[in-house]
Parts: sequence; structure tokens; C-alpha cells
Amino acid sequence: MSDQMLTVLVWRGTADKGRYIEYKVRGLENHTVLDVVTYIQRYLEPTLSYRFSCRVGMCGSCAMTVNGKPRWTCRSSVSKVAPGGKLKIAPLRSMKTIKDLSVDMSEFFDKLARAEGRFHPTSDRQNDFNHVKPDSVKRRLASDGIECIGCGICYASCDLVAWKSSYLGPAALNRAWTLVNDVRDGAHRKRLNAVAGDAGCHACHSQQGCVESCPKNLNPTASIAGLKRVTAIAALKGELD
Ligand code: SF4
Ligand code: FES
Repeated sequence: MSDQMLTVLVWRGTADKGRYIEYKVRGLENHTVLDVVTYIQRYLEPTLSYRFSCRVGMCGSCAMTVNGKPRWTCRSSVSKVAPGGKLKIAPLRSMKTIKDLSVDMSEFFDKLARAEGRFHPTSDRQNDFNHVKPDSVKRRLASDGIECIGCGICYASCDLVAWKSSYLGPAALNRAWTLVNDVRDGAHRKRLNAVAGDAGCHACHSQQGCVESCPKNLNPTASIAGLKRVTAIAALKGELD
């Protein structure tokens, strides 16, 4: 796409009440979707609400639905996601729209907490560092899922989250899996109990929408499969409450 006029439909309003408004924006080859939204907010629609911070793919705050797919808008170039010059931008699915493109992510982050996504240290400053070998199996399993930026894209792409609102979702379960494999953590049993329930890993249908959409190329489905395995073994051993 060289310099061309883009037709951009942007959702204005809340989830219950609103509509798409059309804007015309001159798009340049290297523009990202976030650049386009920022242009609209600065020059055409100053009351447009949306969220971003780092602009370089680190903070996870700029995710929106772009032409039907959840994407990190600061790293999505218009030439790739809208080769025909048409953009339809909406808030993320499965999260309550606060206004326009801004969503309420509290439930998403609450689920990280419900999945025991918090590190529980087993040593303090009086102790020496825990030495974890970089090539150990557990360290490698933890490393596979550790780069999550909490963008919520996998959550918005997951049909199960859309159908079953209590489901913890791919990001929370992926986080739990990294901690299950963290040998320094002291909440193993508590975490397995947290993810083994009705809303946890066994609810996943392995549709892999999360894998396809994760901008960090993580594989939450594999993490969830790992949780299914360890929780099943723990259940057989009578280790779940
Ligand atoms: Fe975003 Fe990927 Fe983390 Fe999901 S697993 S929140 S898509 S970085
Ligand atoms: Fe931080 Fe896009 S603005 S990831």
C-alpha cells in the first residue's frame, strides 16, 4: 500500500448503544492501525476514547478488534491488515466496553489472580538466590510462556470465553502453567486446585484461537494441555482438595 485514502469505520459508544462512524484518513505505507486511530482522535474526533502506552509492543494496552480480528494495533501495519484500504475498528470482544475502543479489563486481570497467577516466594532476602539451571526441563517449560504482555488478545479470540463467562481463559491459564513449572514457587497445590475446577483448564476445547492470535507467538493451548496433564495426575494421586 502506498499513500492512499483509507476508509475507517470506528465503533463509537458503549457495548449496548453505539454505532460505527466513518472517517477518511490518508494512510502511509508505514502507518500502524494505532497511528490511524491516533490521527482520528487528534484531528477528526477529539472525544474518541482508546488506550495505548508504549507503542512498541511491550505494554499490551492497545489491543482492539481490527477487521474482525483482535490485534495489537501499535504493531499492526495498515498495509498488512487492510490491503484494500478499508478498516473496521471495534473494542475487544468478551470485555465490557467502557467507551468507544476502551474496554474494562478488570475481569481479565481478576482471572489471572483467580488462577493463582501470582508468584509465591519460598525464600527471602536472608537466603541465597535459588539456582535454576537454564536448560532444565521445568525452566524451559516456564520460559515458553513467560513473555505474555497481558494484552487480552487471546482472551478476546477465545470462543469458550465468549460462551462461558466464568472460564479463566488462555492468558490466566498460561500464566498458571509458567508458575507450575517455577521451582522457586511455593503454591503448587493451591494453584492446581485453582485451575482444575469447572472454569479451569479442563473446560478448554483446544480450538487454538489463542495460538493463532497471540502477538507474542505464545502457545496457551500447549500450556493448558500441560495443566490438564498435571491436574489429572494430581487428582489420581489424591492431591487435589
Ligand atoms: Fe496477549 Fe499472548 Fe499473553 Fe494472551 S498469551 S495476553 S495474546 S501476550
Ligand atoms: Fe504498548 Fe501497543 S501500545 S503494546
